[in-house]
Amino acid sequence: MSNKMWGGRFVAGPDAVMEAINASIDFDRRLWQQDIAGSKAHAAMLAETGILTPEDAKAITHGLDTIASEIESGSFDFSTALEDIHMNVESRLSELVGPAAGRLHTARSRNDQVATDFRLYVRDALDRLDTALAALQRALAGKAAAHYDAVMPGFTHLQAAQPVTFGHHLLAYVEMTGRDRGRVVDARRRLNESPLGSAALAGTSFPIDREMTAKALGFDRPTANSLDAVADRDFVLETLSALSIMAMHLSRFAEEIVIWSSAQFGFVHLSDAWTTGSSIMPQKRNPDAAELVRAKTGRIFGAMVGLLTVMKGLPLTYSKDMQEDKEPFFDALDAAELAVAAMTGMVSDMEPNRERMQAAAGAGYSTATDLADWLVRTLNMPFREAHHVTGRVVGLAAQSGRDLDALALDDMQAIEPRITAEIFEVLGVENSVKSRTSYGGTAPANVKAQAEAWLEKLKA
Ligand code: ARG
Repeated sequence: MSNKMWGGRFVAGPDAVMEAINASIDFDRRLWQQDIAGSKAHAAMLAETGILTPEDAKAITHGLDTIASEIESGSFDFSTALEDIHMNVESRLSELVGPAAGRLHTARSRNDQVATDFRLYVRDALDRLDTALAALQRALAGKAAAHYDAVMPGFTHLQAAQPVTFGHHLLAYVEMTGRDRGRVVDARRRLNESPLGSAALAGTSFPIDREMTAKALGFDRPTANSLDAVADRDFVLETLSALSIMAMHLSRFAEEIVIWSSAQFGFVHLSDAWTTGSSIMPQKRNPDAAELVRAKTGRIFGAMVGLLTVMKGLPLTYSKDMQEDKEPFFDALDAAELAVAAMTGMVSDMEPNRERMQAAAGAGYSTATDLADWLVRTLNMPFREAHHVTGRVVGLAAQSGRDLDALALDDMQAIEPRITAEIFEVLGVENSVKSRTSYGGTAPANVKAQAEAWLEKLKA
């Protein structure tokens, strides 16, 4: 049996294992819409430049539309023997329109074709992600606005450090997500050039119009170097690294949700819709979605490192290694989209327990810095000395098992005689957060204003 795709040179078909290792149709069928859009743009351009007759172009376009509806309705018969999406579509096209189908591949190769398809696919994915991340920001900023004044412990080393507000904590993630969106938009801008017309690697001798196909496909311009166009996958890597940083952010918040929703912390409550039970322990409400958001990060980092490894050291231009760019990307993208959606759902669902958080905010001498600041401000004490005095006050409190604001004034005066009753005003957690009015600080008035500014900005 001769070969289905390149029968001219080949007298025999491939070994079954050869076919198995070579085929990508099981995963690259996801590119079908982009493949058909690219072919339609190519056909229109070939007709416009007189390379193809208008009749052939019309037949091709018709045939491609038919194929699109066949794939859409599930009646299209994908074949492993035809290797990939490009050959599957082309082969069906020749069944439908005959010899005209063979003319579609004039001035084109699967090398520029796959690069074009994949750029279009990644571009759509980036656009969807940006929208999804905006929704996450909206959910976060909405919760922040509702709880701009709910006091909770702020942590360093996961040790209570200074009181902050719940709204302030959520807005930190709004900022991170904002930068994640910036990376998404940036990756999109850089990838938006059309490889189509680079052909196999060297360009073509046909009088094609690359501006025309670039424009038809929504690209800003054609790529400037045909070798680069078919050889690089940096647009996939850039997207994966944007996804990785985003996933890293999500994993940190996911981890906090796991901690906060534990019985020991009890800072937030997730409803039945966002928790699971245990088949043996009736008391359990497990934050599975948060755990899975935390875990999906693994796939996303894995895809990035995997593709970097595939691409490393590849000589220009195309090598079949590069077919390994798609499967992990699709997997990482699915994981990322699901993780963002789950996080958005959890944020909207989550209800903080203000009493628990406030009580925890007061524990662990979290207003010690306020005491030190008071000494600096009121007594003009150098901060280092104030730190020392405060340390002794904290030591005293710890010895007697009391909170700072439960100490007697006498006790504190025994350490620093100039301390007055005014000190109790700064030892409470509410006063502590209220005093943090510096730009970007946790004062409820700041947080309220920032949450509202974000909600306004996210309206569009
Ligand atoms: N399925 C291939 C890929 O994804 C398409 C390009 C094939 N080109 C070639 N010269 N074999 O990379």
